[in-house]
Amino acid sequence: MMDACTVLIVGGGGREHALGWKFAQDPRVQKVWFAPGNAGTSRVGTNLPIAASDLEGIVGWAAREKPGLVVVGPEAPLCAGLADRLRQVGVRVFGPGAKGAQLEGSKSFCKELLVAQKIPTARAGSFTEKSRALIFLESLSCPVVVKADGLAAGKGVVIAESHAEAKKAIEEMMEGRVFGEAGARVLVEEFLVGEELSLHAVTDGTRWVLLPSAQDHKRVGEGDTGLNTGGMGAYAPAPRATAKLLQEVEETILRPTLEGLRAKGIDYRGVLYAGLMLTKEGPKVLEYNCRFGDPETEVLLPLLDSPLWDLLVAAADGDLSKLSIQMGKGAAMTVVLAAPGYPAEPTFGQRIELGGEMKDTAIFHAGTKEGKGGVEVSGGRVLAATGWGADLATAREQAYAAVGQIRFSGQHFRRDIGHRALGKVVS
Ligand code: AMP
Ligand code: GLY
Repeated sequence: MMDACTVLIVGGGGREHALGWKFAQDPRVQKVWFAPGNAGTSRVGTNLPIAASDLEGIVGWAAREKPGLVVVGPEAPLCAGLADRLRQVGVRVFGPGAKGAQLEGSKSFCKELLVAQKIPTARAGSFTEKSRALIFLESLSCPVVVKADGLAAGKGVVIAESHAEAKKAIEEMMEGRVFGEAGARVLVEEFLVGEELSLHAVTDGTRWVLLPSAQDHKRVGEGDTGLNTGGMGAYAPAPRATAKLLQEVEETILRPTLEGLRAKGIDYRGVLYAGLMLTKEGPKVLEYNCRFGDPETEVLLPLLDSPLWDLLVAAADGDLSKLSIQMGKGAAMTVVLAAPGYPAEPTFGQRIELGGEMKDTAIFHAGTKEGKGGVEVSGGRVLAATGWGADLATAREQAYAAVGQIRFSGQHFRRDIGHRALGKVVS
């Protein structure tokens, strides 16, 4: 039963479309389902009317249909224990159980593990009492970072320029509960200076396969200005991540993290996605995520030459030792097209013209749905226009050529994706 090459992908964003697109290229993969998917995923598989948050629905479906593999895209169902429940009913799953997912679901759990394992990270204190948080705050110079402990849909981090601003953020989180229960505990943290890097390791709990380094662009505006978003674009590999740096990260960060998890009895099978800051003193961990990044996945998968099935199944089965994974030599870039008003007040329902297919490009759908007259905008990040080629400059040309194919009313995107690596803004 488990041998059928069939996959259920949980989620409905650009990351899940990219995963399904990669699986669908493998002639052995007979069937790809999405729960719930979007207008793009229905072109590479079958969308099920089951929300990613509907654990009962997903477990019930998987117990009946027995897919050969379930890949869980977003963090919330992992933190809620979806992978554990699927394993209990005998379904093979790629993604950590609830205990391992705490690495993302609880910033204090993550920080304690990092400190216990002597892994480089920002100095921080974790508090459930406001008065103690405020005393610790005085020991840090500005800017200061205030974080809600739990999941807050990527919004629970405030970078405060003054102690007064940090105090306000602490009060809003702990007393105002602006992020709900996620703010019952807060972390007050030293601000790190440097360039950010996303590093994805697919792990079986002991061994890992490092995917190419990537850089995300979180701010909505060109030149990294304006509000924070889920990510307006990404590219891989990042030239800053030399072989030497990656080796240092593997030895000083990834290895002790997995050792620390194992010491707690956690068998972590999935993606360990490290958000790193490349500081003057070396790479430090900003955060861990327990799943693939979005939009990083949209650039990592076009660069993977080996079958995704083999990699994820080996990790899910707990044995990456026999696997040889080939990474492509080139580079990839993705540019996110966002809905009007995103991220503050996005508006939906616009009709999308997608244009034709082009070589070395893919348009991954994120916030789209099939409407009466065709594909419509249904989320803040609408599409991830992706291109790849021999080098980053070619990947950028391809990605922006793909952007040029797309039209919807009020669309906006950044023209400078890759500026840290390539220097200039696309004109
Ligand atoms: P996190 O969810 O912890 O990754 O935080 C989201 C974003 O906030 C990161 O991608 C960084 O841009 C920023 N950030 C978080 N922690 C720090 C820190 N200690 N110093 C500087 N920037 C930070
Ligand atoms: N690209 C950031 C994230 O997936 O969390």
